Amino acid sequence: RYGALGLAGSYALSRLPAFAQSPFPQPRTLEVRRAEGVVEAQIAARQSNLTMGGKPVQLLTYGGFPGPTLRLREGETVRLNFTNNLPEATNLHLHGLHVPPSVDDPLALVQPGESRLYEFTIPKGSAGTYWYHPHVHGRVAPQLYAGLAGLLVVEGPLDALPELKGAEEHLLVLKDWLFSGDRIPAWTQMDWMNGREGSLLTVNAAVRPTLRAQKATLRLRLLNASNACYYRLALENHPLYLIATDGGFLEKPVELPELLLAPGERAEVLVRLIRPGSYRLQALPYNRGAMMMPGGSMGDPGMGQGMGMMNHGGMRGMGNVGMMGMGATRLETLLTVVAPASPKPLPLPASLAPVERLEPARAAATRRFELGERMMQAEFFINGQMFDPARVDVRAQLGSLEVWELVNKTDMDHPFHLHTYPFQVLSRGGKPAPYRAWKDTVNLRKNEVVRIAVPLRDFSGVTVYHCHIVEHEDRGMMGILQVK
Ligand code: C2O
Ligand code: CU
Repeated sequence: RYGALGLAGSYALSRLPAFAQSPFPQPRTLEVRRAEGVVEAQIAARQSNLTMGGKPVQLLTYGGFPGPTLRLREGETVRLNFTNNLPEATNLHLHGLHVPPSVDDPLALVQPGESRLYEFTIPKGSAGTYWYHPHVHGRVAPQLYAGLAGLLVVEGPLDALPELKGAEEHLLVLKDWLFSGDRIPAWTQMDWMNGREGSLLTVNAAVRPTLRAQKATLRLRLLNASNACYYRLALENHPLYLIATDGGFLEKPVELPELLLAPGERAEVLVRLIRPGSYRLQALPYNRGAMMMPGGSMGDPGMGQGMGMMNHGGMRGMGNVGMMGMGATRLETLLTVVAPASPKPLPLPASLAPVERLEPARAAATRRFELGERMMQAEFFINGQMFDPARVDVRAQLGSLEVWELVNKTDMDHPFHLHTYPFQVLSRGGKPAPYRAWKDTVNLRKNEVVRIAVPLRDFSGVTVYHCHIVEHEDRGMMGILQVK
């Protein structure tokens, strides 16, 4: 019943030629009860029959894809009752939210037919774009890929700035799909190695929708909900003005010709439409270094461009590097933006939120995290070890600041994600970060070193860090951090 709402755009496409324009579908907002600063809401995971790219498909969702957006305000207390109507165990991870690890506990499972209450308070100053998805070690990749993801938007005082309030806001959930008939096929060894990518790319589950802007300033909240696709985003003839990253606002807008969004990352951008016309939001080619077997089985038997579009590279390191022609590495139009007839965009906000200066010189500890792999076995490591729920990998002191040096010793990009404690990127490849920003997921390019500052504040407990190519998480690239 929710599918018809969420996927109305792509349903219309079934009766039109491939390049016809489907309208832009907005994810629905979760209905909540709100009284005296307390918000009560319910959400359930279930099997769903939906329509994608004009064909019926069987997914697992929170009621349509994307799942309903949970819209909350800074300072609110939330009582979110989650019910598992799937035939397997699952749970809910509040990706990016600074809430106690005992609430957002990836090791606590919700069995079929059972419910769990997630009760937490939205921290002040955390206005931004977050999301929720399952976190069952070993099963994250199949559950997330099947459609279990939704946005969590936190509103705060800054949203009242005229330059933001006057903008037309849209939520864009980017996600690839691979189907065999109407089903998502089982994971192959190649999927566990590279992270699965399908050639059907969608925005809010619609194929190349058209966004007819009513206003000349757009505020786009972007989420990469793919397991493994990277989106190198650019809007034709328009810079993107980055105003917020994973953990909320920057100090002022940053003009970017393009924006790389790794799996799990969010960004908020302003778009200023100056001239009437139609402009494509494109995913530009990006090589994340995934490995392609000669004559490999990365086809897409069910839909999409299928094998015909595949341009098989060789084995990594043997001539052709990486895989060519896979979803995120080839040029693809995701969305068309149609500007209004006489656009007059708003001025950019002169300043946004002050971003705290963390002083890395005061760090209580500097730690090194080395990402490694045994590729053909699809085994992934941090500091030489695969995830073990019974082992604490890092012990840290509550209230301390640490510097983490993230070292990618593999030939493939990995998005590094830390639960519970938002961090700031200090440097990348030795170069200082161009601006201060709160992050929870940071991409590590092959052989790159990224330094982050991590304030371990407010909550003690046991939490995790891992690669957000969730196949890699399922296959070992995760560790446990204990703060006390
Ligand atoms: Cu979005 Cu631990 O993940
Ligand atoms: Cu990875």
